Amino acid sequence: MRMINRKLTVVIALLASVTATAATAINKADVVHYENLKVLPKDISSHDLQSIMADDFDDGLGVTCGFCHANAKNGHGLDFASDAKPEKEIARQMMRMTMGINKKYFKLKHPRIGNQALVVLCTTCHKGQAFPDGAAGDN
Ligand code: HEC
Ligand code: HEC
Repeated sequence: MRMINRKLTVVIALLASVTATAATAINKADVVHYENLKVLPKDISSHDLQSIMADDFDDGLGVTCGFCHANAKNGHGLDFASDAKPEKEIARQMMRMTMGINKKYFKLKHPRIGNQALVVLCTTCHKGQAFPDGAAGDN
């Protein structure tokens, strides 16, 4: 009887630790912390950040993520925190300008990129093109 109890205790302890590990993994996936945000709020949710990148930027400029984000050093995918591509810094200037226009001319109190209330968006000028002035780019 004692032997069985001990075995049961071990099994329960193992189960508990497996459950705890799974819970930690899920929590870690939820808590995103970005490393290099200079314009967007540092505590932005991953949902908001992704929709800005995909809707405002990719669709607004007619590009994909790699237009602004450099390749990862290990050759796998993109290094989103890296500032190696100049397009990323230009995009930051464009973000500040776009928020500034909405604040100054349209009196929006806390203009934020990605906010539906913005009067002027990336796509207002870009209309799905990286080079709105029609200058020849590399695309
Ligand atoms: C037009 C340029 C542009 C495009 C296209 C773009 N991004 Fe970004 N991305 C930026 C800029 C600029 C920042 C930094 C914003 C800041 O400083 O607040 C950023 C930041 C990020 C970050 C945060 C990185 C960190 O840890 O600091 C992630 C993740 C990201 N982008 C993912 C994406 C994904 C995924 C796509 C494609 C769906 C994409 N981006 C397309 C310009 C772009
Ligand atoms: C008021 C008009 C206007 C708005 C709004 C605007 N842009 Fe631009 N953007 C331009 C013009 C014009 C150029 C072209 C400059 C050139 O060709 O030298 C440009 C160029 C760029 C470039 C550089 C392309 C390259 O490689 O030379 C990026 C990146 C960019 N914009 C991102 C954005 C993003 C992201 C937003 C929204 C946050 C935005 N822009 C909003 C007018 C605008």
